[in-house]
Amino acid sequence: MKQKPGQSRPLWEAREYERYYSQFIDDADRPLFHLSPLVGWMNDPNGFSYHDGLYHLFYQYNPYKTQWAPMHWGHAVSEDLLTWKYLPTALAPDMPYDDKDGCFSGSAVFLPDGRHLLMYTGVATGGHLADGTVAERQTQCLAIGDGVDYVKWPANPVIGPDDIPSDIDTRHFRDPKMWLEEDGTYRCVAAALGAPEKSGRILLFSSADGFEWHYERTLLRNDGRYGVMWECPDFFELDGYSVLLVSPQDMIPVRHDFHCGNNVICFLGHTDKETGEFVEESCATVDHGIDFYATQTLLAPDGRRIMVAWMQNWDTITANTKEDRWFGQMNIPRELSVRNGGLCQWPIRELESYRCNRVAYENVALNDVLSLDGVSGRCVDLLLNIRPVDPENPYHQFVLRFAEDGQFYTSLRFKPAKGEFKIDRTRSGSRRALLHHRKCVIGRYTDELKLRVVLDRHSAEIFINGGTHVMSVTLPTNEDADGITFCADGNAVIDVEKFDLSRTTETVCS
Ligand code: FRU
Repeated sequence: MKQKPGQSRPLWEAREYERYYSQFIDDADRPLFHLSPLVGWMNDPNGFSYHDGLYHLFYQYNPYKTQWAPMHWGHAVSEDLLTWKYLPTALAPDMPYDDKDGCFSGSAVFLPDGRHLLMYTGVATGGHLADGTVAERQTQCLAIGDGVDYVKWPANPVIGPDDIPSDIDTRHFRDPKMWLEEDGTYRCVAAALGAPEKSGRILLFSSADGFEWHYERTLLRNDGRYGVMWECPDFFELDGYSVLLVSPQDMIPVRHDFHCGNNVICFLGHTDKETGEFVEESCATVDHGIDFYATQTLLAPDGRRIMVAWMQNWDTITANTKEDRWFGQMNIPRELSVRNGGLCQWPIRELESYRCNRVAYENVALNDVLSLDGVSGRCVDLLLNIRPVDPENPYHQFVLRFAEDGQFYTSLRFKPAKGEFKIDRTRSGSRRALLHHRKCVIGRYTDELKLRVVLDRHSAEIFINGGTHVMSVTLPTNEDADGITFCADGNAVIDVEKFDLSRTTETVCS
């Protein structure tokens, strides 16, 4: 296709490249319903928004290879967040002063006149600072479009170094998440590094029209807790709480909570109506698995708060190989709620319409290894209840294995006495010495345990006790390893309900 008048060369080239090379990726080589990049590399979800029956999801994108490089925004749309249609690259790093080194993460809203407004972080480097480091500037920029084509706003950047407290390190000021308030005005939170204390801050901005922005306040400071820089903030009201999600870098575990490196954490609190201040009350890990980072949420028209994330982790990205044509995927969109003072996550209910081939077993005695007829597969929605025969003297451990054949498997182990889960993909076929296991501790738990396990070809998401705890992992295992087995050390009883997940449910279901 010819370069359109006004279209930049980098954008045209990205669109041409992806159009040609994406034809070599078979749908069967992608997840069934988790969004993956059209071609090349994907990281954070961006611009999660809804208009006229369509959800838009953009993503940090390098079409040219399966490694991170100056970021573009990839784009896909869906009616149900599970079946995606790709649209051409929305943004390319093509503005010499604002974003030549990357269009980093950001968000989107639809304006009352139907135009789609994107706010992203423009990254531009050039020259050296007095201390010898490369001068880099991160500013917040706009692009406006019709849902397919976007034009960068001539007055960019709309939030620059002069609009923020002077002690912010402007090399680390990014990931604006904006939203529309009930009164028709706009708000936005962005992540920044406080220079004196070298730790994260979340800044709040306001705008009457989405184009002119003003700094309001610092919503929360890291103050030496929870890692160093915080990325990808999101702020919203949910079930009577103000919720602040952030993705900290460089975290250190605290007792059984959090893990080394990149985490996603959730602050629950309240916003003081008089002063507008956010008063933090609790903080917890959002996902206890290995692959989960950079969340972004959306308020669906039916009132649901839906969250997506990048189902990867910066510390494990070397899992990809040069032969791969794509790398990175989103997690399954999750409905959020607050239950018993904690964030609860559950796969969007739309997933249930992809279920077919139900197989169910009740009250099966488990004291050894067990496989059940009809219970296998790699695109599966699996519901399990596990009960100790004697709660006073519970089984020692329960182990679920999936993506299993004679050689490979991934396991989830649970020890009721400690209330400890361990996900382990050491034997999933990975040839890399990466992080392969992680624990989640809920404390002694001898009641009936409820698990929901969603498998989608190369990933597993495990929802514990209705979604009070979640663990996500990606799996390199060949798809023909599709065994599922259960094992107890001690005496347990299980109920198993299993559905295949398929896009052609009408034709497959009896
Ligand atoms: C988070 C992040 C963001 C940044 C983007 C760059 O994963 O580091 O802070 O905007 O990725 O791709």
